[in-house]
Amino acid sequence: MKLTTLIFPIIGFFIGIFIGYYIYKKEEKIKNRRLWGRIERRNIMRTISALVSAIDFKDHLTKHHSDNVRMYACAIAEELGLSKEEIYKIKDACLVHDLGKIGVHDYILTKPDKLNEKEWKEMRLHSLAGAVILKPFRFLDKVLQIVREHHERYDGAGYPDGLAQEKISLGARIMAVADSFDAMISKRPYREKLTKEEAICELKKHSGTQFDPKVVEIFIKLLEIKPEIFKRQDQA
Ligand SMILES: [Fe+2]
Repeated sequence: MKLTTLIFPIIGFFIGIFIGYYIYKKEEKIKNRRLWGRIERRNIMRTISALVSAIDFKDHLTKHHSDNVRMYACAIAEELGLSKEEIYKIKDACLVHDLGKIGVHDYILTKPDKLNEKEWKEMRLHSLAGAVILKPFRFLDKVLQIVREHHERYDGAGYPDGLAQEKISLGARIMAVADSFDAMISKRPYREKLTKEEAICELKKHSGTQFDPKVVEIFIKLLEIKPEIFKRQDQA
């Protein structure tokens, strides 16, 4: 056999090994980057939600408010058949939705009486402030949108942008119901907590004005048929 007939297969063999090794290394690098990205994202979310727990505690909300909102919102999102990824984003948004309250004066957060108009004005800035704080974290884009819109109303009379109906992201429409329900059944210094039945009446009353009627309908249905999934963590 001539040497020249062997040379090309040998070269081809080594080139194949080299390309295989190169691809393997590249894939390893991408996998590691993704893994670190995920770990980094989780750590950032944990840090932010720890901050929010501190705010919840300082506020007149129960310290478990964000967890309760997350539980209600996820149940609604699952019932609506949203994708895992969308549910994940709603989950994250629920945990950090009141982050912007960090910019609200303590005396407003802890005031034992109803807020006056000036104080409400400052309080209403919290959804926008939360979105501004989250802005540098590009991977939280969708979460940021839900945080910004969680006090928008279905009839367009909410804040900060006065969005209405489907202009409000579905995640924010879900969270509005979950957030309000948990607030209603929690005690405040200036009012007693509502019973579950009274809170359901309130949701029905404001369905189509404050809340998305479809979301309210699903939430009430879930409360009736699966009460066990709403094992709410109570005030500490
Ligand atoms: Fe809020």
